[in-house]
Amino acid sequence: MKRIKLGVLVSGRGSNLQAIIDNIENGLLSAQVAVVISDQADAFSLERAKRHNIPAIPVSAAGYKGKRDAYDALLVKELQKHHVELVCLAGFMRIITPTLLKAFPNRVMNIHPALLPSFPGLHVQKAAIEHGAKFSGCTVHFVDEGMDTGPIIIQAVVPVLDSDTEDTLSARILKQEHKVYSRAIQLYAEGTLKVEGRRVIMTGGRTSTDDHLINP
Ligand code: GAR
Repeated sequence: MKRIKLGVLVSGRGSNLQAIIDNIENGLLSAQVAVVISDQADAFSLERAKRHNIPAIPVSAAGYKGKRDAYDALLVKELQKHHVELVCLAGFMRIITPTLLKAFPNRVMNIHPALLPSFPGLHVQKAAIEHGAKFSGCTVHFVDEGMDTGPIIIQAVVPVLDSDTEDTLSARILKQEHKVYSRAIQLYAEGTLKVEGRRVIMTGGRTSTDDHLINP
């Protein structure tokens, strides 16, 4: 199978990036990380990319305050230069503008550490605990112009325990993030996903309704 070329956008430690790289190297994901771009020059993600001989490019947002389109145009240029077919946001802490979305229509994915549409935005693991949610999880979705609003591709659910802190819940969710992001990319690479309005339909998807979770 042809390896789809990924452009991974990051801002921080890059554990999701690492999981994608590892899954490619383990043969679980038919993809190639063509470039990693960070808006933070000191992001550990760039170091991770270099260790795997992946082009690692810092694109500083300094000087682009209020000029998000101009910044995204820089990203598009780098992504196109590396012949990227699918853009994966992996802890990229910026809102994407139509400049990038038009260049990659339905070809930008994001991972979010909550069960969207609940808890969009930041500090969402803490928000889920404080709200008293009994389940949380993570969502991979196509990116649209809103914040965490695009069509949902895949979700994983974890319980929220009475003893949870932001850190323990985040760690439980992150473990699932590392699995589902690669799965979403693989489904995309296989041509299995079809976007119909807000819904992402999967050819050959589940038809059983027997699975359910109850907590506690
Ligand atoms: C992940 O938990 C990801 O879901 C979250 O940032 C973390 C990045 O971790 N993304 C967002 O909150 C986006 N709104 P990582 O750098 O170790 O992959």
